[in-house]
Parts: sequence; C-alpha cells; structure tokens
Amino acid sequence: MTSAVASVQVCEICRTEIDELSPASVCPSCGGLLELRHSFLDGGESLSALFADRRRATRGPDASGVWRYRELVLPSARADEVVTHPEGNTPLLESRAVARWAGWDSSEQLLIKHEGHNPTGSFKDRGMTVAITQAKRSAARAVACASTGNTSASLAAYAARAELPAVVFVPKGKVTGGKLAQTIAYGARTLFVRGGFDECLALARSASAELGIQLLNSVNPFRIEGQKTIVFELLEQLGWNVPDWIALPAGNLGNTSAFGKALRDAREAGLIDRVPRLCAVQAAGAAPFARSFAHGFAERITVEPETIATAIRIGAPASWNRAVRAIRDTNGVVASVSDAEILEAKAVIDAAGIGCEPASAASVAGVRKLLQSGTISRGQRVVAVLTGHLLKDPDAVTDYHAARTADRPHANPPIEIEPRVSEVERAMRA
Ligand code: F0G
Repeated sequence: MTSAVASVQVCEICRTEIDELSPASVCPSCGGLLELRHSFLDGGESLSALFADRRRATRGPDASGVWRYRELVLPSARADEVVTHPEGNTPLLESRAVARWAGWDSSEQLLIKHEGHNPTGSFKDRGMTVAITQAKRSAARAVACASTGNTSASLAAYAARAELPAVVFVPKGKVTGGKLAQTIAYGARTLFVRGGFDECLALARSASAELGIQLLNSVNPFRIEGQKTIVFELLEQLGWNVPDWIALPAGNLGNTSAFGKALRDAREAGLIDRVPRLCAVQAAGAAPFARSFAHGFAERITVEPETIATAIRIGAPASWNRAVRAIRDTNGVVASVSDAEILEAKAVIDAAGIGCEPASAASVAGVRKLLQSGTISRGQRVVAVLTGHLLKDPDAVTDYHAARTADRPHANPPIEIEPRVSEVERAMRA
C-alpha cells in the first residue's frame, strides 16, 4: 500500500479542522460531529481501474471490499496498520419473487445489496474495520459503543482481532439472541443498561469522554468512511452506471449520512456524473426522521420508539444534520413502514432464499410503498440494501411462522408427526 496525504477532520457545524489522528469524538470547539475530508489525487478513470485491479487480490487489505477503495476512505493508512477480516465484497442479487411482491415485472429493476454477508453478519463491519484501524493508529487504550446489537457484535469482533479491550452498552431485553451471543462470545464487556438505545448512547458518550475510552458509534467519522463503501461497491457492480434510487433502513442515521457522503465523494472524484435519489426507510413506531421530512425538516423531532425491528428502535437519531444533508443533496425521500409491512417483506425475502433480519426488510417494504404511491416509477432501477443477516433474529422467524393466519399469509409452520411414513404422506399433502 502506498502512503498518501493525510486527510483532515472537519466540524460539520463550525468548520474547525483537526488532525486526522486526533482521537476527539466531537469538535473540540463546538461539540459538532466531525467528518473526514480527503484530497483526491486521481481522476475517476484511473481510480476505477485501480479498484478493479485490486479485485484480483486474495489476501490482505486489497482483498477487502472496504480497503480496496482506500483512496476514498483513509488514504494514509498503511497495510500493516489495517485490521481487516476482510469485509465487504457482498453480493448484488436479483430475485423474481421479491421484485414481483414489490410491484415490478422484471427482477432487473429491483436489485438487492446484501450486507448480511459481512463477517459478523451486518454492514457494521465496513465501518468497524476503519474505526478499529484508526483506534490502533491513534493509540486507543480501549473502545466502546452503544448498540441495538449489530454494532456491538462488530465492535466486539474487530476489537478482539486488534487485541483492544471493548465495552458495549446495550438496552436490557431489547437485543436479539444472535447479536447478544456474538457480542458476548467475542469477549466485549457487555453492559445491560436499564433504558433504550438513546439512553445507552448518552451514557456511552459521557462514560467514554470521562474514562478516556474511544467511542466507535457512527458519530465517529471513521465509521462513516468505511460504510461509504457499500455505495462504492454497488456502483462498481453496476459498472459505475448510477441507479435511479438507493433504499436503506434508517435508525441512528449514520448509514444515511454515509450514503450521502459516498455519493458526494464519488462525484467529486469523477467516478459518477450524477447521483441516485436516496430513500431512507424507518419503522413507523420509530420514525422521527420520516415525520420531520414530511414537514421539510422544519424541526428536529424525538420520539419514544417501539418496533419489532429492534435494530432501528431509536427515538433520537445522532447523525441528524448530516442525514438531512444526504436527503437534500440527492433529492431523496424518507418513508416509514409498519411492523406488519416489515414482517411481510421479510417473509418474502426469506422465502426467496435470500433472508434478512426485520430492520433490513424495511428497505424493500419502503420501496414497495413508494412504487404504489407513484414516488418511484416502474421504469426506474432501484437498489435496496439489506443490512443484516436472517440469523441475527431467529425469534422473529419462529414467532412469525408459528401459525398461518389472515395477517400472516406467508407463514410456514412446522408440522409435528409420529415417526410413521403415513404421517409424512399426510403432512406432504397438507
Ligand atoms: N439495519 C440494521 C440491521 C442495523 O443494525 C441498523 C443500526 C440500521 C439498519 C440503521 O442504521 O443506525 O446507521 O441508521 N444499528 C445500530 C446498532 C443502531 O447499534 O447496531 P443507522
């Protein structure tokens, strides 16, 4: 890996610039969130050729679907500093069944970018490889995050790989079995906080500031840089032909912000000449951003969140301003979908052999709704991002499929039998 110019961290509010290696988690002058600014040395064609060439690598940072794009992520990181699994390299899938359910005739109109194929089963690994690499570079003693479960699983795994102590703050009773199992098994000190995600994040912020621990939530700008590669990779998979829409589930709004910055950076670097519209989708019971969007983002709203999609059960999203910018810059929209719509979308995605956790299905449920309302038109091409793996939340599956009812038409309940062929025959006919 060649070393390149260092990037700078810039405050999104007062524009104060601080050193790339500073461990500050917010602007030291005004408390605003920080963002990385790179200098692009090459033009679009030489960059896309470089990225394509690295796809031949079988080991090391070039084999990572994050570090392959390092000129746009963290150009100054050296190969021996990078903590990688590797991650990324996730598929862009077509499914006739999912496209048909969402309202398209052709599976080419609705493509599915499956981030559940990352090493810990969610898109969080893309941000975490960069944040943990940076934590090592800036000599962190320990790392922390608040989480609804996926960030904690990812942080725990990457901290273990980097041999850094990790502490995670999770809402007691609101994290799925799969995510909790990962977090504990990978060795993070796991704190069950009596409160929701929003309280966990507030506590993680003050505890890390007071105790000298590096906070690796998506307020951390290095997480955002890594998550941008979801967009770079899907654009590259489309031959840098820009789709009309990119849809994603939204909770704390880190990923929405990352997608906005990815598109700005890709255009500035000359990789694309126009941007797709972003479609951020929230669960109706946890939809402060969607409600604010409906009023032109006139005010910053918080809610008491409740949804089956525990990953996005968030009432006071932290990356608010930069997500507003992402939606405005891309002429995007913010939608909300009910838990019933999420569960139906998930059942269709699961039965198509693709599978995802409940929060992920919000993107496909949202796209279906916007196609019905005419915001998205049938001739347009959409990429829907699935953010987490089906096995993250096995309880959601067994609960849904326990019995077929009018509101659960896709249920596939298991059938209990005596060990006799006649009973097998009967079950096959049922
Ligand atoms: N999808 C999944 C599966 C998630 O785990 C999350 C966030 C999101 C979507 C929303 O992304 O917060 O950047 O808007 N999970 C965080 C966590 C909150 O702690 O794992 P966002």
